[in-house]
Amino acid sequence: MTGESPTPEDVSSLVEDRNLVVVSNREPYSHEYDDDGEVSVSCPAGGLTSALDPVMQSVGGTWVAWASGDADDVTSDEAGRVGVPPESPAYTLRRVPLSDERVDGYYYGYSNQVLWPVCHLDTAKVNAKGEFWEHYQAANRSFADAVSAEAGDDPIVWFQDYHLALAPELVREQRPDAFCMQFWHVPWPPRDAFQAAPQYEQLLEGLLGNDLLGVHTDRYCRNFLDCAAALSGATVDRATRSVVYDGHRTFVRPFPLGVDADHRRDLARSAAAAEFWRSFRDSHGLDGTRVALGVERLDYTKGIPERLAALERLWETRPEWRGELTYVQKASESRTRIPAYQRLQDEVRGEVARVNDRFGTDDWRPIVYVEDHLPQEGLAALYREADLCLVSALRDGMNLVAKEYVASQVDDPGVLLLSELAGASEKLGDEVLTIHPRDTDGVADAIERGLQLPADERERRMGELKRQVHADDVYAWLAAQFRTVKAIQRGRERAAAPPRGR
Ligand code: G6P
Repeated sequence: MTGESPTPEDVSSLVEDRNLVVVSNREPYSHEYDDDGEVSVSCPAGGLTSALDPVMQSVGGTWVAWASGDADDVTSDEAGRVGVPPESPAYTLRRVPLSDERVDGYYYGYSNQVLWPVCHLDTAKVNAKGEFWEHYQAANRSFADAVSAEAGDDPIVWFQDYHLALAPELVREQRPDAFCMQFWHVPWPPRDAFQAAPQYEQLLEGLLGNDLLGVHTDRYCRNFLDCAAALSGATVDRATRSVVYDGHRTFVRPFPLGVDADHRRDLARSAAAAEFWRSFRDSHGLDGTRVALGVERLDYTKGIPERLAALERLWETRPEWRGELTYVQKASESRTRIPAYQRLQDEVRGEVARVNDRFGTDDWRPIVYVEDHLPQEGLAALYREADLCLVSALRDGMNLVAKEYVASQVDDPGVLLLSELAGASEKLGDEVLTIHPRDTDGVADAIERGLQLPADERERRMGELKRQVHADDVYAWLAAQFRTVKAIQRGRERAAAPPRGR
């Protein structure tokens, strides 16, 4: 290993010559028709797919994912396979076609109207229509069938997230030789909340088909073991953090997800970021004001209206900040076909307009609201220049915006305000200004405090945060999981070996 954190090559060498099959709902490359009827490729910017892509390019495995692009079928072979990256293929993307009806029930339905609110402890939003569950089961079968067909000898199958809770058990039935692992990217809720999903027992049974289940934090790990302890027929061993069910042992471990911190730092230092900032600053009149920043999908878990209320309180009660602090909200539409998401979008847009009307002047707009897609360098510029980053999630598995902001502080460091209800707070909590997202006055106070922190205090806090974000980066996250796979397998081999001296 080189330096503080492993490289993509280090991660690949941990996988050795095993056949790695990654399985996720979102695909790393999708083909879409543009307005002229030409096919173009798009890759999700940032996030997990972009971190796993270099590893997959170096190990050359298979990635199984939903064929979400409208030109995916014409760019894949009859079995749904396409070599990616398209310009110099290094691994296989196996696309799973799902009908519109299936997507409605499995993705917009069970995944995002049952599991998402349950895991984020917003059980009042659960909409558990029976047909959603039917579609979730069927989609998980389709993913499992594709995995079983694609996995060569001695495979490691790695499922991502809450869309695929049932697939591990199905793959285990079809391919008992596979090592199955899963990472759960959202919070694992306490048992009482998890029971709000009517099929909570089947979900646990599906997940216990894994050999290893990863979650972000110690607390989510304990929550999962509490849920498993209530499952009839399951035995939980808290000392080894494992569950035996149906004769099979699943280890549960915390692996805090990180970002590609070096890449974020380099983007923030790039000439393109500096260029973007000059033009953004000038077109939005940001010269001469301090800047606070929020970056998120328009999701009710992110606490955006609550944050706008805190900013409004600040400008209302401390008018000296009017004209002196501008809030930039980068937002992106998400899951718009779900009514709760439509309501949230309307609410956020309405509140932004109202607050701007209330305090705006000819020379100053309090909130700059951006829904347009930004290039990576553009986002890096906003992170770099923001005096404050406001992460006020009502619940969040980890929250990578907090880590991206830290990694992008390449000169005069800013201050991170971080919700105590985001997983990132477990490790970063000491050096951030911790906020409770629903405490309007407390958040308003913390914004002012952050703006007034002396430079040496900002330097000290940000130095420590950067050290942590670089040490716990995405490659450290990957390496820790594949080291755990090896440890589990060594343990099994030792247990299976005949006793010495016989
Ligand atoms: C969260 C989930 C991911 C998901 C992402 C974007 O981070 O944990 O699995 O991909 O949101 O949401 P979307 O529904 O657009 O994939």
